[in-house]
Amino acid sequence: MPVSFRPLPGAFGAEILDLDLSRDQSEATMREVLSIFYEHQFIAIRGQKLQLSEFDSFSRCFGTQRPHFLDHLRMDGHPAILMLSNIHESGRQIGIYEGACFWHTDVAYEDPPNSATIVYAIDTPKGEAAPTYLADMFAAYDALTERTKRMIDGLIVLHHYGNRYDTKEGSPTAAERLTEDQKQRVQNVHHPLVIRHPVTGRRSLYGVAGSSFGIVGMPDDEAFDLLHELAEHATKPEFTTAYDYAPGDVACWDTYSTLHKAPGQKAAVRGDPHARLLWRVSVTGTAPLAASRQDQLAPQAAE
Ligand code: SIN
Repeated sequence: MPVSFRPLPGAFGAEILDLDLSRDQSEATMREVLSIFYEHQFIAIRGQKLQLSEFDSFSRCFGTQRPHFLDHLRMDGHPAILMLSNIHESGRQIGIYEGACFWHTDVAYEDPPNSATIVYAIDTPKGEAAPTYLADMFAAYDALTERTKRMIDGLIVLHHYGNRYDTKEGSPTAAERLTEDQKQRVQNVHHPLVIRHPVTGRRSLYGVAGSSFGIVGMPDDEAFDLLHELAEHATKPEFTTAYDYAPGDVACWDTYSTLHKAPGQKAAVRGDPHARLLWRVSVTGTAPLAASRQDQLAPQAAE
């Protein structure tokens, strides 16, 4: 039976219907899921009951798993799974708590950057929304004037770990606090400001995430002004959506063509009605079952 879907409310995204991933991860089904994913950039599959191994195999359909740089927030014994959570245990947070509450694209501060993120909702707040907000970088690019497109196509952006809007360690809107060891491993990397998506070939306004800190050959104040201006444009309501999870929901976003940010949350302990716990896997490269444009596995600068 073909995989069915319907658009999600908001500017973009699709909900896949009538699919039980614990029973069907066949090649034919996954090809269809991937084609919906690359067309809509964000997909949700509600009401799943997955073993960890089933979530793991599903996430591998999107690319090569990459254990997260924040190694103290990975799941014990399963390094590919990063915890997103407001839960605190034994005096410490068990996952990313406040450190993703700014517009970013996952792991743009490494080379190659991540290509997709796959999450599985284990526990979600009862009676209150705690959505992930997403913005469509294809639509944001398409809506720029031809003059701006000509000006920014070909620019190269400097990224490193952090949020350029708030670099104060421990602030709720800064990036997640690093351990001393992680601080030693932060690197500068460069990615094109506008990329061509390796599967669809569409142009995406990639380089405006919070981890972008400069533009090659441009004075910093000018670069910051341009990055701020483009980010403000890209996160206008007409390009954004929000997805609020129920336990069992699987959601996946294309990190080449979306920005996202986490909701602000109150700290919790396990069992609190407002406790939130998502498992997250990130991958690099394109999905093994997807035909990539020109056989390229990384995004290319728009020529
Ligand atoms: C993230 O993956 O950046 C966090 C998303 C969320 O917690 O909603």
